[in-house]
Amino acid sequence: MGDYYGDGFPEELKVTTEFLKRGQERYNIQCAICHGTSGNGKGVFTKYSTVVPADLTGPGFDDAANPAYRPDGKIYDTITNGWNQMGGYGPNISVQDRWAIVAYVRALQHAAKNPVK
Ligand code: HEC
Repeated sequence: MGDYYGDGFPEELKVTTEFLKRGQERYNIQCAICHGTSGNGKGVFTKYSTVVPADLTGPGFDDAANPAYRPDGKIYDTITNGWNQMGGYGPNISVQDRWAIVAYVRALQHAAKNPVK
């Protein structure tokens, strides 16, 4: 599909609480060191490096009307193949787990926009 990334999850996957929990566990192991446990890009890694991980809860990431919007397929692709300074994790994370992480990143974005009062 060239530069077009689809939105939505593969049909055979069901986004359940179980699936999200799996995504959370994987995210905290594989991504939080750089992107932070809340997804804001301020993981511990940033203290030791000049590399600036993306704020996954930043403007546009979850807003389809924003030109900076990242569809589900784009986030999946970033995990698989990397993006600029971020390396790919394709060989290290199973396909199922990559989608679970995408689902969890969506949950983090939702949480950032809707703080618990
Ligand atoms: C070693 C640090 C590191 C780890 C671990 C890491 N990232 Fe990243 N990530 C980065 C950096 C740095 C960028 C910004 C890259 C750039 O723009 O050059 C980035 C960018 C991104 C982006 C934005 C891509 C875009 O469209 O602009 C997404 C989404 C992302 N990371 C998701 C993840 C997920 C999910 C994981 C866990 C599987 C993860 N990252 C693990 C460092 C990391």
